[in-house]
Amino acid sequence: MLKNKNIILGVCGSIAAYKSAVLVRLLIKAGANVKVILTADAANFITPLTLATLSKNPVYTKYFEEETGVWSNHVELGLWADYMIIAPASANTIGKMANGLCDNLLSAVYLSAKCPVFYAPAMDLDMWKHDSTKANIRKLQEFGNVMVSPNSGELASGLHGEGRMAEPEGIMAYLIATITKSLPLAGQKVMVTAGPTYEPIDPVRFIGNHSSGKMGFTIADEMAKLGAEVTLISGPTAEKSVHPINRIDVMTAAEMLSACTNNFAQSNIIIMSAAVADYTPAHVSSQKIKKKDDEFNITLKKTTDILFTLGQLKTPEQILVGFALETNNEEENALYKLRKKNLDLIILNSLQDEGAGFKKDTNKITTFNRAEEKMTYELKSKAEVAKDICSAILKLYKA
Ligand code: CTP
Repeated sequence: MLKNKNIILGVCGSIAAYKSAVLVRLLIKAGANVKVILTADAANFITPLTLATLSKNPVYTKYFEEETGVWSNHVELGLWADYMIIAPASANTIGKMANGLCDNLLSAVYLSAKCPVFYAPAMDLDMWKHDSTKANIRKLQEFGNVMVSPNSGELASGLHGEGRMAEPEGIMAYLIATITKSLPLAGQKVMVTAGPTYEPIDPVRFIGNHSSGKMGFTIADEMAKLGAEVTLISGPTAEKSVHPINRIDVMTAAEMLSACTNNFAQSNIIIMSAAVADYTPAHVSSQKIKKKDDEFNITLKKTTDILFTLGQLKTPEQILVGFALETNNEEENALYKLRKKNLDLIILNSLQDEGAGFKKDTNKITTFNRAEEKMTYELKSKAEVAKDICSAILKLYKA
């Protein structure tokens, strides 16, 4: 969820500032790019060197660093951020945020930022209970800032009560849960098929194809990034998912059919990118077949067309997406498959296009939606193609 996301962590003057070191570590471990801004008081509690080492970035404390002559552009920092977290957020900084004051770099970046802002208050119990703090927090809520509520416990003053900053692990969990909930496919279940199928001939041989699974895996990752709960049904492949995905490994077309039918009813969006074998040996020899004659024939029988089967079961609420890999009469064949298999979207790959097809890192697609509207796309990396496919699906989902 946070991979490659740009995060500004603002740290205020509070004893809880020591916990920001752990928070930086957790954010970096989650794959985020982190830049830390310390208020002048925060630098008395935790050193810039600690946070610079952990974040692998220089730490910002002032608008202007006299020693280096570097001007820290608050607008640029604010725009760089995908998310801003202020932890610990002191009563003083919360007051500044609520009232538009910007007499230090952190509050100026807050005012310049356009991204979602999370803050984790940390203060003594009476400051926390004060009507002024309560009013400021109400204002921040109106601004859409997200509070990670403080815990109760022993406070730095020795008093017991509410005001302890949430633990870094709790802040991370809250951050991820909030971001996930706000994503366009939050709560949606997506099923994706990927890779080839292998149809056994005997214990050592099979009929397969050159599909690498790259396209399906990239689509599954992109759908997970959009907040969907993804089930990926994959044939034999060396590909790995980046995001947490429920992966079901299968080998044959029959196994893929059964995994697909088991997961179909609970799926809202179904994307069938696997290169399923159209034929399978009619008989599988239980022993290795020995070479004898100069010629050797295998009788093949048709496999079940999984996509066609699902198209017959589909409810109007479900979105069913298929692929068509063609070498000739491409558009005509794709439209025929769209209608025959009862699809909402078909993604056409033409093997005549340079850079498209199996085992490549690029792809070139044309899509037709259920209204048979055509969209053509440039040759792109498979990651970018996956984004285009997911945007086309999102459009159908919202329509
Ligand atoms: N497909 C499937 N089950 C099969 C064969 C194909 O679900 N047994 C799906 C593929 O996942 C893809 C779509 O059908 O989404 C089109 O596959 P493709 O091989 O291009 O077309 P076919 O319908 O098999 O027709 P043909 O091979 O004759 O072009």
